[in-house]
Amino acid sequence: MDDTHAPLIEDLTRRRGVVLLVGAADTGKTTFARQLLAAAIGAGKRAAFVDADIGESTVGPPTCVGLKWINDPADLDDLSHADRLQFVGSIKTSGLVLQQVVATAALVDQARNEVDLVVVDTSDDVSGVTGQTLKYHKTELTRPEVVVAFQRGEELAPVIGMLRRFFGVEVEEAPVSPRIVSATPHERSADRAKHFEAELTPPLQAWRVRPTVFAPTLPAGLDPTRLDAMLVGLQNGEGGTLGLGVLQEDDGILRVLTNHGEGMRGLRLGSMRIDLETYAVEPVRLREVMFGL
Ligand SMILES: Nc1ncnc2c1ncn2[C@@H]1O[C@H](COP(=O)(O)OP(=O)(O)OP(=O)(O)O)[C@@H](O)[C@H]1O
Ligand SMILES: [Mg+2]
Repeated sequence: MDDTHAPLIEDLTRRRGVVLLVGAADTGKTTFARQLLAAAIGAGKRAAFVDADIGESTVGPPTCVGLKWINDPADLDDLSHADRLQFVGSIKTSGLVLQQVVATAALVDQARNEVDLVVVDTSDDVSGVTGQTLKYHKTELTRPEVVVAFQRGEELAPVIGMLRRFFGVEVEEAPVSPRIVSATPHERSADRAKHFEAELTPPLQAWRVRPTVFAPTLPAGLDPTRLDAMLVGLQNGEGGTLGLGVLQEDDGILRVLTNHGEGMRGLRLGSMRIDLETYAVEPVRLREVMFGL
């Protein structure tokens, strides 16, 4: 293991509160999160990992923010099994900034009072209006003790300046290891498909669903064929997510295919369709599904 970040990690293990990790794709955010969490529990701290990267998920399936309690090293080997999930509904933030910020804030709030250190991994949207708005509101709601910004050049300068100016937050700039080899888009989508497959492993159970259990509510008279193959979040009735499901329309009857039907109280419509043969996803505009617009 490379110890470029060792002094920073040592410093952070002595703090309390939220550490927010930001950086473009393949800048070592998740590797740093693991190292920091290992060091924190090694120092006898209670820790939690909130994975707010909805595209390249580590905790729980893509399209969800996941929380994992980190009590001992074994938990770090089992990050894919989330202790809590919040459905966002897409692998891309665009158009879903609100959902993503709220999901992250909800899990950070749950973790904050339970542990000493909450490490938050974020998506690679770090620039443009969407990326900046996302980082702004995540910082606003998660109130980090420290933001760690991973950059190769000056690509994070606008975000770092913004967070310091508007929140007075401490931002630690961290170098990116030159040894990191970037993943290709093909490797990324293959990896994502594996994560979806782990969540939607056959044989899936089919549960008949009434049109009244959705959020947002389905418009009256909606042609149910439009919902076929739509990704949904199965909600537990306490604001949290049990897991993912996929809608199936068959002769006017709507079912959800899932491994998490037990205890489901409602369904949140995602903004993607998923192919259960290949686990490939395609974005969908909800407005189009609901109103044909
Ligand atoms: N110091 C390092 N030396 C060599 N390889 C590294 C180092 N840090 C990370 N890596 C590797 O580089 C890749 C990207 O690292 P990591 O997943 O931590 O980055 P990330 O910023 O979380 O990426 P993503 O945008 O995909 O979430 C991984 O395969 C990881 O194992
Ligand atoms: Mg990552």
